[in-house]
Amino acid sequence: ARKIIIDTDPGQDDAVAILLALASPELQVLGLTAVAGNVPLPLTELNARKIVELAGRPDIPVFAGCDRPLSRALVTAEHVHGKSGLDGIELPDPAVPLQPQHAVDFIIDTLRREAAGTVTLVPVGPLTNIAEAFRRAPDIIARVQQIVLMGGAYFEVGNITPAAEFNIYVDPEAAAEVFAAGAPLVVMPLDATHEALTSRGWIEAMRALPGRCGPAIASWTDFFERFDKDKYGSQGAPLHDPCTIAWVLRPDLFQGRQINVEIETEGRHTTGMTVADWWRVTDRPANALFIRHLDRDGLFDLLTERLARLP
Ligand code: BDR
Ligand code: CA
Repeated sequence: ARKIIIDTDPGQDDAVAILLALASPELQVLGLTAVAGNVPLPLTELNARKIVELAGRPDIPVFAGCDRPLSRALVTAEHVHGKSGLDGIELPDPAVPLQPQHAVDFIIDTLRREAAGTVTLVPVGPLTNIAEAFRRAPDIIARVQQIVLMGGAYFEVGNITPAAEFNIYVDPEAAAEVFAAGAPLVVMPLDATHEALTSRGWIEAMRALPGRCGPAIASWTDFFERFDKDKYGSQGAPLHDPCTIAWVLRPDLFQGRQINVEIETEGRHTTGMTVADWWRVTDRPANALFIRHLDRDGLFDLLTERLARLP
């Protein structure tokens, strides 16, 4: 199985991404590393533990990482995810303990311990933990198999400012370092994830699953959906973060281009923008596979089939 570390700030869509990974035998989840993002770190690490417990996987270690961006104050998104970060259903306090090790040390140790080129990082929150690990241990960069991250936007610009997507906006310095690091990078921006809209039928199918995970997913999605629906009249909730795991499982469901992507860290109006050279108008070297479109039916078939395997 392919080894992955999910770096996350749960988040309802983070939760679905984690559950999709845990339901997929092609993947071995080495650990969840929590970062401050949608809500502060004490909540994201708690939510991560609630999710592994819900999935019946207390064997998946959960680590807490950075509690704020590299050089800025934390911006959160309770307006999207609710006060807990995981509003929609009350889950019990988890028995799964928080690991004593710092998430950044776990990332470093794991990449040094496992054979080079065998561990994939899947960041679905701000990139603080990953950038901090690369700063402290530059030797691990060459050992990363791939980074498959949710973040950015180019044609579908801006869900936190007119120019920037949330994950990149929260810690643009971290994003700039990760995009420049040289590790093979797959970027799942809003351009793709805004095509991953839930439908009523899919949510009801989740609710009807016999286990406990399906109804939880339905409740989260109901809560998450109201934001995009009320604000934008959108047809459903965009399942941003699950697209990364889906890409690892089924890259054939996605279309993108290998291009140069730079992170704006100093813009007057554009801080956190992912400046994507889609038309290759510069000679800057490609550093990312930037996903533009996805096969919605294929994605939701995969989600349904996998999530139905959960308890
Ligand atoms: C991203 O921001 C978070 O609110 C979501 O969990 C997702 O990772 C979308 O912009
Ligand atoms: Ca997230």
